[in-house]
Amino acid sequence: MSNLSQDAMQQLFSDARTHSHWQPRSIEDSLLQALYEQAKWGPTSMNCQPMRLVFVKSPEAKEKLKQALAPGNVDKTMNAPVTVIVATDMTFYEGMPRLFPANANARDMFANNTALAEATALRNATLQGGYLILAARALGLDCGPMSGFNADLVNDLFFAGTAIKANFLINLGYGLSDKVYPRGPRYDFDEVCTIT
Ligand SMILES: Cc1cc2nc3c(=O)[nH]c(=O)nc-3n(C[C@H](O)[C@H](O)[C@H](O)COP(=O)(O)O)c2cc1C
Repeated sequence: MSNLSQDAMQQLFSDARTHSHWQPRSIEDSLLQALYEQAKWGPTSMNCQPMRLVFVKSPEAKEKLKQALAPGNVDKTMNAPVTVIVATDMTFYEGMPRLFPANANARDMFANNTALAEATALRNATLQGGYLILAARALGLDCGPMSGFNADLVNDLFFAGTAIKANFLINLGYGLSDKVYPRGPRYDFDEVCTIT
């Protein structure tokens, strides 16, 4: 493997910002499919892939989601061309025989241990949501992740009768770069890292 170009690194990391204001430009369904096709390759423990996605795009679906948003997240979400609900399938282990055939015990290992299943589901679906943000940036999209919403209500509205639970939301679109807040500082290496 070789390093990405400096431009590519900047697009993924140091130049990428969290966006709240959007150009009036839609996102084709084919781009949402391309987004998942990249994000799906990020690693998960035992290849368990617990992330489930709902791309909220239609005006009807946006109105449904609106009820669950924290007040400060309403305008940015209603103006974004797409909001994706990054969710977690708490019964992800039912897919293990297909996803991790090397271990015939994989399904039962989680099915018989609720604490392990919950921790694994949350850890890996959240990781997959992070991969999704980076994949979106790689494809030229801007992101606005959000945890300010009523998860129980989103679960009732979008996932009733299932074991799928909302994790966080991401607004997707083409941001207005002149409207972003001043960049918040990041910790330096020595403040938060050790090499032992
Ligand atoms: C998981 C997550 C949840 C967030 N929730 C909200 C939110 O509910 N509302 C909001 O305005 N910003 C939210 N943010 C945005 C963060 O404040 C923002 O990403 C952070 O300050 C870094 O900004 P930057 O990418 O422009 O440097 C969230 C970000 C993440 C990753």
